Amino acid sequence: MFIKVNTFRIKLPKMWYSVASIPVTILSIVLCLGRNCAAYKITQICPSQVRPFDVKNPYLAPILVNRELYKEGNRSCMHIEFDISDSKLRYDTGDHLALYARNQSDSVARLGKLTDADLDQIISLVNTDEDSSKKHPFPCPCSYRTAFSYYLDITSNPRTHVLKELAEYTTDLKEKEKLILMSSTSAEGKALYQSWIVNDNRNIVHILEDLPSCKPPLDHLCELLPRLQPRYYSISSSSKLYPNVVHITAVLVEYTTPTGRLNKGVATNYLKIHCKPEPGQPLPRAPIFIRKSQFKLPTRPSVPIIMIGPGTGLAPFRGFIQERDLARSEGKGVGDTILYFGCRRRDEDYLYGNELEEYVKNGTLKLHVAFSRETAKKVYVTHLLEQNADELWRVIGETNGHLYVCGDAKNMAKDVHNIVSKVIQEKGNMTPEQAAAYLKKMETQKRYSADVWS
Ligand SMILES: Cc1cc2nc3c(=O)[nH]c(=O)nc-3n(C[C@H](O)[C@H](O)[C@H](O)COP(=O)(O)OP(=O)(O)OC[C@H]3O[C@@H](n4cnc5c(N)ncnc54)[C@H](O)[C@@H]3O)c2cc1C
Ligand SMILES: NC(=O)c1ccc[n+]([C@@H]2O[C@H](COP(=O)([O-])OP(=O)(O)OC[C@H]3O[C@@H](n4cnc5c(N)ncnc54)[C@H](OP(=O)(O)O)[C@@H]3O)[C@@H](O)[C@H]2O)c1
Repeated sequence: MFIKVNTFRIKLPKMWYSVASIPVTILSIVLCLGRNCAAYKITQICPSQVRPFDVKNPYLAPILVNRELYKEGNRSCMHIEFDISDSKLRYDTGDHLALYARNQSDSVARLGKLTDADLDQIISLVNTDEDSSKKHPFPCPCSYRTAFSYYLDITSNPRTHVLKELAEYTTDLKEKEKLILMSSTSAEGKALYQSWIVNDNRNIVHILEDLPSCKPPLDHLCELLPRLQPRYYSISSSSKLYPNVVHITAVLVEYTTPTGRLNKGVATNYLKIHCKPEPGQPLPRAPIFIRKSQFKLPTRPSVPIIMIGPGTGLAPFRGFIQERDLARSEGKGVGDTILYFGCRRRDEDYLYGNELEEYVKNGTLKLHVAFSRETAKKVYVTHLLEQNADELWRVIGETNGHLYVCGDAKNMAKDVHNIVSKVIQEKGNMTPEQAAAYLKKMETQKRYSADVWS
């Protein structure tokens, strides 16, 4: 039986014959995850994983360590170690780890309840365009529960075309009009979309909760909602020191929306809840792959570097410092290794503080730390960078050094860019245009690199 839904149609049950065409690894994940098992039980099906591992075929990596880095306060930042020794995966210092997480089971259950659907029904979503190379938008057949847990994004703000489709399934006239207005291109519609969806941060579950007469069929939602995307993390270890283990440093995302709902980040909460090794239990596993990046140390260790990474922006620099420390211990000539790190308080969120101070003691690292909330007036890494204009110019202007920025894209990275431009003008006697050209050249020579997110 087929139900046609625009470009995709839903084949209902009895479709297991097509299972044979699904790659073994993905099938294993689907079968295991479809049973809604706890992450650690995945161990049982791991022998069937087939190399090579990549974006389409993630490796179910055992998690060796998941420990809290913050000492105080109500926030959480995790140091996590993934074992890649059996995978033939390789990484270079500065690469990204990509993680396929799953949506929280209570959000999926809520979606099922709000749409009066049976989440354990098995479906197959088939592309009606027979010439398309992509037969299914995600591995099929699977249960609705699997589709909404692993493959579909149910936590972002839905786009306007989704709202337009939702209006078709809304019986209350006021609610229907609201959805139609928000999906329109009128100024009033755009303003309402901005305030009710974006500012109030409503996802599909929140919309169905707040518009109770809206009852879309789940199969149509499968077609409408975007795919759940992998999350990327800057690898915080050196591949030279840890070729078989990948470290990441991930801050837990949790915040209250203007409608009073507690929103929990998909991947970081998955890491927090399902990826913690427990004594006497098999190691938990998570689907990962490695993404190559351009964020790399200079080939010659003698080249001086400045790294600017407040908060989790420290992540890739931990790997950089490990690598420079190793080079120094091997007797290689290592240039200045200068780090600007910032956090709220020494006793609260000073990430890897002991490690950093050991590197300072052994001569590997020159460290500038800004504790933003220890003084009446905030101190940021950018303030320290401005104060150290001579050192900055010596590295980037006089000794051909490299400058790296990691972390917050919204404010910090822009502030750093402006400060560097100002220092180039002042210390290098350049006009703003010449400084801009100098910075551009640094970027093309990979002497100014940013690994930022917002
Ligand atoms: C190249 C790259 C490297 C990265 N490296 C790291 C890293 O080393 N460590 C790290 O912790 N993260 C890193 N990130 C961010 C990471 O990829 C995820 O975006 C982050 O962990 C959140 O994922 P999540 O699934 O838990 O949250 P999601 O479910 O994706 O929710 C996050 C979204 O919630 C919203 N949001 C978050 N906080 C608030 C708030 N306070 N108020 C309102 N809305 C909010 C924002 O829209 C945000 O996009 C990196 C990102 C990129 C692109
Ligand atoms: N997209 C996401 O889901 C996501 C997830 C994680 C992090 N992030 C973003 O990534 C960034 C780092 O997050 P984090 O939790 O690791 O760090 P954090 O703890 O929020 O910040 C680290 C330090 O940087 C300071 N800081 C704030 N604004 C700054 C600026 N403009 N310039 C320099 N320093 C500044 C902070 O000071 P004060 O706090 O005292 O002002 C704090 O001392 C944040 O911008 C955060 O929004 C986004």
